[in-house]
Amino acid sequence: MSAPSPRPGIKKIAPYVPGKDSIDGRATIAKLSSNEGALGPSPKAMAAYLKAAGELHRYPDGDSSKLRAAIGRHYGLDPDRIVCGTGSDELLNLLVRAYCGPGDELIYSQHGFLMYALNALGAGATPVAAPEADYCADVDALLAKVSDRTRMVCLANPNNPTGSYLSKDDVRRLQAGLPNNVLLVIDAAYAEYVSRNDYESGVELVDGAENVVMTRTFSKIYGLGGVRLGWMYGPAAIVDVMNRLRQPFNVTLPAQVAGIAALGDIAHTDASRTNNDIWLPWLSAELGRLGLRPLPSVGNFILVGFGSKARAVAANDWMMSDGLIPRLVAGYGLPEHLRITIGTEAEMKAVRESLSRFVAHS
Ligand SMILES: Cc1ncc(COP(=O)(O)O)c(C=O)c1O
Repeated sequence: MSAPSPRPGIKKIAPYVPGKDSIDGRATIAKLSSNEGALGPSPKAMAAYLKAAGELHRYPDGDSSKLRAAIGRHYGLDPDRIVCGTGSDELLNLLVRAYCGPGDELIYSQHGFLMYALNALGAGATPVAAPEADYCADVDALLAKVSDRTRMVCLANPNNPTGSYLSKDDVRRLQAGLPNNVLLVIDAAYAEYVSRNDYESGVELVDGAENVVMTRTFSKIYGLGGVRLGWMYGPAAIVDVMNRLRQPFNVTLPAQVAGIAALGDIAHTDASRTNNDIWLPWLSAELGRLGLRPLPSVGNFILVGFGSKARAVAANDWMMSDGLIPRLVAGYGLPEHLRITIGTEAEMKAVRESLSRFVAHS
C-alpha cells in the first residue's frame, strides 16, 4: 500500500510566506511588512479583549450575531447577509471551496493578492492570471480569460501589493461582462483607506446582482490582524452556502468582542485614516524625490520600484540593517519592487532617512 496522498493540486501550492516580523540580532524599529494598522489596536478593542478573558471557557456565539448586528449598523447592511470569519482569508478560502473544484478555473489579475491562486489549487481548480495594465487590474484582460470552465473571478480592490484600484464604473463593467454563473469576489480589505469619489467597495454591486460578494477585514484600519477577523456581504443564497460550509464556531469569542468595540471606536479609526492620509502622500513624494519609483497607492502601503531585482534586494537588506522591515514581493511577480506599509510619523521618517542613505551609497 502506498502512503496517503493529498488531492491533486495541493502539492502545487507554494505555502504563503508572511512578511517578516523580526530581524536576526537587531532590534526592530518598524515592522512595515504586513500592512497592519499604523496606530495599533483601538484601546476600546483591547479593553473588550481583556474583559473576555474570564469567559474563555465558553464557546463563542456560533452565529457571531452581535458582531454581525454591529457591522450591519456601522455599514448600513442587513446582518442576515453578513458572514463573519477567521480573517477574510477564511472566507476567501471557503468561497473557493464552495464554488470551484477540479476542472474549474478561477481568474485573478497578474499581481493580485496571492491567496486567490493558492485557494484555487487547494480546491483542485486551475488559477488563471489575467495581465495587468500599468500595475492595475484590466477589465478587458480579465473578461478575455473567461471560458466555459470559469467559476470565479477574484479582484482585490484596492489591490495588494500594487496599491492600485478599479473605479466603480470599471468594476460594474467587469460584473456586467461575466456570465451569471461566475461569482465575482470583490476583496475590499483596504476599502476604509480609500477616499476617491470614483471608488465603491462593492456593497451596491452585491445588492444589484446574484453573483457578487464582497469581503472585508478587521486586520487593516481596525488594527486587529492578531485576532483574525473578517466578514463577507453577499446575496442570501451565497450566505446560506457559507453558513453550511463554515465551522460552527469559526470566530473566537475575543475576536467577536474586540471587533464590536473597534467598530465603536470612531476616534481611533479616524485617527488611523488621518495618519494614512498624511504619511502615504508624504512618503510617496519623498521616495520620488530620491529617484525611486513609488507607485500611486490608495491603500496603507506603497509599492516602490528600484529598477532591478539586485537593487530591490539590496534596499531590503539595507533597511533591515536599520531595523526597518519592508516586504519583498518577488512572489507576486514583482522582483524589482519592495512594498512598504504606512506607519507612524517616526517610522516614515526613519524609512526616508534609511533609503536616502541607501540611494547616496548605491
Ligand atoms: C487584499 C487582501 N485580502 C485579504 C487579506 C487577508 O486579510 P485577513 O487578515 O482578513 O485574513 C489581505 C491581507 O493582507 C489582503 O491584503
